[in-house]
Amino acid sequence: MRVLKTALGLKTALQENQGQTVALVPTMGALHSGHLSLIARAKAENDLVVVSIFVNPLQFGQGEDYQKYPRPIEQDIDLCQAFDVDILFAPSVEAMAINQGQQQSLVVPPEHLVANLCGPFRPGHFAGVTTIVCKLFNIVQPNVAYFGEKDFQQLVILKKMVEDLRLPVIIKGCPTVQDPSGLALSSRNVYLNEQQKAQASGINTSLMLAKEAFSSGERKSSPLLTIVKQSLVQISPKFKLQYLELVDPNNLKQLETIEDTGVIAIAGYFGSTRLIDNILLNAQKPIVTIDGPAGAGKSTVTRKLAKELGLLYLDTGAMYRAAAWLIKSQAIALEDHVAIAEVMASMQLELLPCDSSKYSCEVYLNQQRITEQIRSLEVTSLVSQIAAIASVRTVLVKLQKELGKKGGLIAEGRDMGTEVFPQASLKIFLTASVAERARRRFKDLQNQGIEKVSLEELIHQITQRDHQDSTRKISPLRKAQDAVEIITDDLNLDQVCVNIVDLYLNKINQK
Ligand code: PAF
Repeated sequence: MRVLKTALGLKTALQENQGQTVALVPTMGALHSGHLSLIARAKAENDLVVVSIFVNPLQFGQGEDYQKYPRPIEQDIDLCQAFDVDILFAPSVEAMAINQGQQQSLVVPPEHLVANLCGPFRPGHFAGVTTIVCKLFNIVQPNVAYFGEKDFQQLVILKKMVEDLRLPVIIKGCPTVQDPSGLALSSRNVYLNEQQKAQASGINTSLMLAKEAFSSGERKSSPLLTIVKQSLVQISPKFKLQYLELVDPNNLKQLETIEDTGVIAIAGYFGSTRLIDNILLNAQKPIVTIDGPAGAGKSTVTRKLAKELGLLYLDTGAMYRAAAWLIKSQAIALEDHVAIAEVMASMQLELLPCDSSKYSCEVYLNQQRITEQIRSLEVTSLVSQIAAIASVRTVLVKLQKELGKKGGLIAEGRDMGTEVFPQASLKIFLTASVAERARRRFKDLQNQGIEKVSLEELIHQITQRDHQDSTRKISPLRKAQDAVEIITDDLNLDQVCVNIVDLYLNKINQK
């Protein structure tokens, strides 16, 4: 691991690793298991992981704990080393071009996102966060950046910043990590004494009570918040509540009633220590993702499961086929990425349910029905090259995410669990040995009367395709950290599906 202190050093180190996907995990140090879970996920999903440690003066208000904020740098270096971080970026205040006391440019979040929750109590805080994160993005230029969901408002604001400023980075939110008592991990927990720590676990217990009421059908803000308040008075009497609000997780507006999803967010003090936490209340139907290498049986399994579980089959393959058809029908050369980006940006694609046993859906592109056309041999031969073009993926992943907003679907591909639906309730990584996948393909070809390819040749082709899929720069094939791997070598279709249905029912019952 390299520990670097300047933007120039970092830039030079990154230039040595050109072509690799770079993840950034921005932190203020005093690393705990919450940070380590972000690092582990970044490691699993990218080639190179940069962790930044910078206690950012811009985000501390007057009277806040900037001076006394914990800075155990030696311990942080050891933890990063142990988690195989590639670069630890630990700049000074000067290296981040912050001249305290002098005026400087700021990135300011929109009013409506700072009007609630922490915003009114910490004026200027979020502008401090967006400014520093924007600087870090400019210095590191990561492909992906990871943030904890505990700082929920921060996460929403950062996603909006990236969208509004068209920053070329994907923001990924990761679940809050709790200690065994349920207390959300925070670098500030070190300030708590034993009694405060014991009572602090009541915050999560109280939020969980609201979640139980929600699961039993309560949708109104007032009774849900009353449950939390009453419980806090009972089990955390020393907690001085600052705010307790139910908001829409997309725009942070206060909600009277939850339609699909809501977040209850809370902040308050034990003595002078400020703690925050939140809980997501989600009435949406689940999302299941099935990723894995070519020839593992993903489409057959997904189709069968969609029927058995009553979920919509999101046929992402049909979407890539539609893009291939569009590019082909407009006679755009595959090398002309600019023309492809233009045509993709204005494309209107609709997938509608259909009764046919032949197709998973009806496909309409710019109002034209192309359900059959996308299955032609010409499209089949183009689709994998088209799917590797950045602009095609950007547009289609955005659409897939949009379609996933309502939940209730099962999607199959290479990056469903890692990129498209990281929030999926159940992620499966379906795989089989190269020899077994080649054997199945060989049998299929024999059944179709095609006997030209030998088993050895198929083994070679599949090995090559696996290598291409897992090393390509855009959305490489990777098992999501929280995916369940199923190796299908010794399983038939029914056995695989029974396995997944069991996992699904377990997940749903846990909710
Ligand atoms: O969440 C944090 O630790 C900080 O707000 C961040 C994102 C590192 C910016 O200083």
